[in-house]
Amino acid sequence: MSYPRRQAFVIAALEDIQAQFGCVSESSQRILAAHFNMEMGELESLMAHCADAFSAAPARPRAVTLCQGPVCMAHGAGQLCQELNEQDVDCELHICLGACDRAPAARCGRTLIAPADAAAITRVI
Ligand code: FES
Repeated sequence: MSYPRRQAFVIAALEDIQAQFGCVSESSQRILAAHFNMEMGELESLMAHCADAFSAAPARPRAVTLCQGPVCMAHGAGQLCQELNEQDVDCELHICLGACDRAPAARCGRTLIAPADAAAITRVI
């Protein structure tokens, strides 16, 4: 670790780790706490205070449940899935989301998007 052992550099170290790995894992936190001579609680408290900037777990991949039922397939669900994959969105396939009259249908968490297109889905996820 190339940071001076002064606590003034903790934020810089956290930012670098977050940027490189997408999170500051518990093992990284232990290494940082030892390096900066901090209690784990102090470091956790600091990360909690800056929760918008640092996370202990990697962000979930962007994902959507996309209907592959016959009506949605007839309305372009296959093409939509391909388009989303090209935008690094994982498509979990599902048979009929119950919105056939508004096909193609997708679900992001509890939000039903119908008719769905890539722009509407990426706005939600
Ligand atoms: S077939 Fe897609 S919502 Fe029913």
